[in-house]
Amino acid sequence: MEEVLFATGNRHKLEELGRVLRECGLVPRTVDVAKLEVQSDDIGVVAAYAAVHAYSVLGRPVLVEDAGLFVNALGGFPGPYSSYVYKTIGLNGLLKLLEGVRERTAVFRSALAYAGPWGVVVFKGEVRGRIAEEPRGSAGFGFDPVFIPEGVERTFAEMSTEEKNRISHRARAARKFCDWLRGGRKPL
Ligand code: IMP
Repeated sequence: MEEVLFATGNRHKLEELGRVLRECGLVPRTVDVAKLEVQSDDIGVVAAYAAVHAYSVLGRPVLVEDAGLFVNALGGFPGPYSSYVYKTIGLNGLLKLLEGVRERTAVFRSALAYAGPWGVVVFKGEVRGRIAEEPRGSAGFGFDPVFIPEGVERTFAEMSTEEKNRISHRARAARKFCDWLRGGRKPL
């Protein structure tokens, strides 16, 4: 089985991505590399730079993810700044920004960048949904308790990893990555 290095310190991301990779016969292994964070509105660009940097440090092909929650009523905020916004104002801060707002649609986006001798390739996945009125559930991480995916009444934090992986932005990006590897790393 082929081993794939995944540069992350987030055990939830590893758990979600790991399941998809194992389903397609890959073995994920985490590596600890300081993440190079360039500023861009495009999480694909952020992930690509971080992956190229991680490859230059490790000298081995490596996968890096950048993800974010884009809230339509806030012009896509927090988007690429999701991690910082989560650490600073948190779930309650986000809910406060949406107090009295009825248009609560949002999109979770994931960009998985794989850097190696071929350069870097990026795979994107997204899931549409809406922001709940209050946090619900205790599974998962980050904004999971306030995100209700389309067609479901529960938040991501009220789902098992298996359920979340059926529809999540991360799992969708990961499946594209698997297809690319299986197809013999053909240029995109
Ligand atoms: P980064 O990809 O590590 O820069 O983190 C993006 C931030 O977006 C995380 O810290 C979370 O707050 C949030 N985020 C990204 N993906 C998810 C998810 O699947 N569930 C909940 N929050 C997420």
